[in-house]
Parts: sequence; structure tokens; C-alpha cells
Amino acid sequence: MGTGCAWDAERYEGKHSYVWQFGAGLVDVLASREGERILDVGCGTGQLTAEIAARGAQVVGLDSSTNMLGQARQNYPGQKFVLADAANFRFPEPFDAVFSNAALHWVKNAEGAVESIALALRPAGRFVAEFGGKGNIASIMSALRAVFGAEAEQRCPWIYPSIGEYAPLLERHRLEVREARLFDRPTQVEEEDGMENWLRMFCGRYFEGLSVEGTQEKIRELVDILRPDRYRDGVWTLDYRRLRVAAVKV
Ligand code: BEZ
Repeated sequence: MGTGCAWDAERYEGKHSYVWQFGAGLVDVLASREGERILDVGCGTGQLTAEIAARGAQVVGLDSSTNMLGQARQNYPGQKFVLADAANFRFPEPFDAVFSNAALHWVKNAEGAVESIALALRPAGRFVAEFGGKGNIASIMSALRAVFGAEAEQRCPWIYPSIGEYAPLLERHRLEVREARLFDRPTQVEEEDGMENWLRMFCGRYFEGLSVEGTQEKIRELVDILRPDRYRDGVWTLDYRRLRVAAVKV
């Protein structure tokens, strides 16, 4: 989940629990078995790491944010967490499966991430992941372009690959694609300031270098652009779109 920017773990846990609530279905897809060694890449504050552990696996949570991992360790004191870059990590012992929810769109070096994941797996090990796919948050991306102009692209911290872009990347690293699905997941936030909270939580890269007032002004502009399409009857709807992949190391 962490990518070098300073994550506000408290804000994340307080207002964005849908991130791991939606990930619960992916834990079912992982179908971990008792005693398996599982790596959770981009574990954030550790909710799904703990969920996988509760099903009997030995799980290691990996994240590059010290703030997120600090909170994860506080939440789950007995659980193993390591600080590492998702685009460049190595483990001495192989894993039976690598799991990742709502994190890999933050790793712009997708090649490095997939290489690290493939190297971490034993032969026939599984890779199960879900993250932002092609067209994710299209309305917010469009508003960011309207407000930040050419700088929007330079400041963008995300990648949203299509199946056609991501499957060959997996195959290049000997990960045989068993499932790849791109689907809409409209995500509702039931607070008048829900969009502002979302922007403050996740769009810090766009506001770097701006004063408090400058940031507030940009947020106001973004919210004004987004409101007509995205806010109805007291609910904001984020136009999330997920890429879900399941692959096996060959
Ligand atoms: C997502 O889960 O799709 C997402 C979350 C934060 C920022 C951008 C995308």
C-alpha cells in the first residue's frame, strides 16, 4: 500500500475501511490452506493479513510505509510484518502464494513488482491480486487533469493497466494467467465531505509544495467539478474499476 509518500494511517483506518472490506472476497479466491506460507504485498494496516492468518496460514505482511506498518503492528502484535519496497524485494524462503489487495496500482514499476513476486513463489505457487485497472476513477482522473493541467501526469502516483498490458507482464515472469477480469466496482462514501476526505487521503502527491490554503483551494475546485456526476442524495460514488488476476508460477 505504501509507496514512499507519508501515509496517514489513522485517517486511512477511520474513513476508508471499504478498502479491506472489499478485499475479503479476494481472500476467498486465495483459498489459503492450513500452514501455507503467504506473502501479503501492500498490506497497509494489516486487516487482510490477519484475516488470512486467521484461516491457518503463516502470513508475512509487506509494506513500504512505516506509518502503515506501525499501525499494523499495533493492530496485530503477534503478526509478522516487514518493511520493503513492493517493486524490489527478495525473501530467502519461497512462498506458497502471494496475495495483494488494492495496492499494486501504487507501484509504478510494475515490472519490478511482478519480478519480485515471481521470484518469491515456489514452483506452482499462486499469485492472487486485485487493484485499480484501466479506467479506474476516470472521473477523478479527469478532474485532476482539469485542475492541474500538464502537471497532473507528472504527479500521478498510479498505474491502471488493462488485461492486455498486465497479462503479458505476468507471462514474461513465468506466471501463467489463470484468470484476469476487469470490472466496475462503484464504491459509495456516505458523507458530504467524503470526496474531500478521499482526496486528502490518497492524492497527497498532487498537493505537494502547496500551502494549506492552496491545497484547500485545489480540493474545492476538484469537489466542485466532481459533485454534479458523483454526489447524489448525500452519497458520493467513486468510480472504482478493478483488475483481478490469478496466476500460477510455472
Ligand atoms: C483504488 O483503490 O482504486 C485507489 C485508491 C486510492 C487512490 C487511487 C485509486
